[in-house]
Amino acid sequence: MKGFLVLFSILALSSGIRGEEEVCGPTDQAAYRPCPTLSLPCVRNYLQLRSDCKPFNFNDDRDSFVSEPIELDAPAFNLSAIQTNVITKNLRQVNILEFTINPEKDLLVFAVEYLNLTLENHYHYSYYQPGEEPKHFKGVGHETYRDLNITTYVHGINNPAWEDAIHIHSLSEIDYTIERECLDNADGELDQVLAEIKTGILTVIQEVFLSRSGPIQEYIIKRNLCNYH
Ligand SMILES: *[C@@H]1O[C@H](CO)[C@@H](O)[C@H](O)[C@H]1NC(C)=O
Ligand SMILES: *[C@@H]1O[C@H](CO)[C@@H](O)[C@H](O)[C@H]1NC(C)=O
Ligand SMILES: *[C@@H]1O[C@H](CO)[C@@H](O)[C@H](O)[C@H]1NC(C)=O
Repeated sequence: MKGFLVLFSILALSSGIRGEEEVCGPTDQAAYRPCPTLSLPCVRNYLQLRSDCKPFNFNDDRDSFVSEPIELDAPAFNLSAIQTNVITKNLRQVNILEFTINPEKDLLVFAVEYLNLTLENHYHYSYYQPGEEPKHFKGVGHETYRDLNITTYVHGINNPAWEDAIHIHSLSEIDYTIERECLDNADGELDQVLAEIKTGILTVIQEVFLSRSGPIQEYIIKRNLCNYH
């Protein structure tokens, strides 16, 4: 029993020390801007020298796109949805907010601001309640995001692993309409769900953008910086 206690305190001590080293290591200072003015041609050039990029087709429409269906989750509302994107537009109103590389962490950070980005979507919702089958209903949405920032984190500063990038958003105001389709089948419970979505719209948006930010940012990267895959 005594031996066990001694062993236990040694373990606690050594893990305490290791924890301290991890938290306080002097590793956070090395990020810098390879393009001090964040100009698009400079960022593009920097990435194209280091990535496997295909040429751009400059005749393409660059202000809008239609994405593949996206699975959205709004767990705070017992809700999931398949978003079928009709169109995402206003993609010319973008600013590069940041572009840094960190050789020590082998990490690239790229942030973009979107002004008045507009999405038109169809939604196939599933609503979940304990012990019951999900209820399904359809909706249609028209949404404009006044100010949306998406930050992308990519490992591999000399050969960016674009497919494994992580995209994080922050956003402010939204102008929107979301309505049920097929009102003939309207039932009170589902109208109530839609009313809750509207009341908590900013929470819903925060949740669903976890799945949405990626396709939006990928479009901007592939059309302006590096057309990977
Ligand atoms: C989600 O479902 C649970 C269980 O029925 C309920 O207590 C909760 O209020 C629901 N939340 C919303 C936003 O509908
Ligand atoms: C975004 O749209 C709103 C409403 O139409 C308009 O007032 C605002 O000027 C627009 N912002 C930009 C940057 O275009
Ligand atoms: C987006 O970034 C710009 C520039 O840093 C900032 O002014 C704006 O408040 C940010 N918007 C949001 C919603 O975070």
